[in-house]
Amino acid sequence: MTDNSWHSATEIQGIFDRIAPVYDQLNQRLSLGQHRIWKQMTVKWCEPQPGDVGLDVCCGSGDLAQLLARKVGKTGRVVGLDFSPEQLAIADLRAQNNYPSLALKWVEGDALTLPFEDNTFDCATMGYGLRNVVDIPRCLQELHRVLKPTAKVAILDFHRPTQPWMRTLQQWYLDNFVVPTAKGFGLTDEYAYIMPSLERFPLGTEQVKLAYEAGFSHAVHYLIAGGMMGVLVGTKD
Ligand SMILES: C[S@@+](CC[C@H](N)C(=O)[O-])C[C@H]1O[C@@H](n2cnc3c(N)ncnc32)[C@H](O)[C@@H]1O
Repeated sequence: MTDNSWHSATEIQGIFDRIAPVYDQLNQRLSLGQHRIWKQMTVKWCEPQPGDVGLDVCCGSGDLAQLLARKVGKTGRVVGLDFSPEQLAIADLRAQNNYPSLALKWVEGDALTLPFEDNTFDCATMGYGLRNVVDIPRCLQELHRVLKPTAKVAILDFHRPTQPWMRTLQQWYLDNFVVPTAKGFGLTDEYAYIMPSLERFPLGTEQVKLAYEAGFSHAVHYLIAGGMMGVLVGTKD
């Protein structure tokens, strides 16, 4: 269930490098702007405070990292990590344009071997990354390791709705809206991967179990967007 070996890490990195130039524009169109609300909810659930040191793993072009940076303010700082240099270049440019005074740093690295000391971060986010990593338990263990005691991580991703009609709607939306829209950008294959990746992605209840197994002392999964999205919130000790 947690095996993403249908795509290697190098292939996934290649996909996100290729998507980078149009990623933000596509996201906005494909979610009808809703992804901004879901990301704000995610940041709220990891409870960032002014002065905190925050982490956004699989940061892509930096939406969540920017939101987190606004919450921790000028006395805090945020690190965005991703293994796609193309995404990080865009994240850096956007942050310099939008929030030149906030302390945002971009690190090229792997979510499965985070290049940080144990107990470093006060709060963390991850958006649409967990579904893409090749080893979900390992990723959760790494997130747990780098958080300080009492810190929270909030992990936003797609979810398979439990009601059959919502599942049908989701399938219809992916087949008839997402893939054709991506096709218009010349990215059919890159976006056709969403449904198979979702089929392999653990349900919320399974994610909670994995979070406990990774060492989190408390874990809860919130369904949003009618169960088509979800946020896993894990608390360390
Ligand atoms: C769908 S994008 C999400 C970007 C951003 N978090 C957002 O919500 O808009 C997934 C990102 O995860 C990154 N990624 C996937 N697997 C990774 C890994 N093992 N380590 C670091 N980054 C990874 C990709 O490069 C990509 O930028």
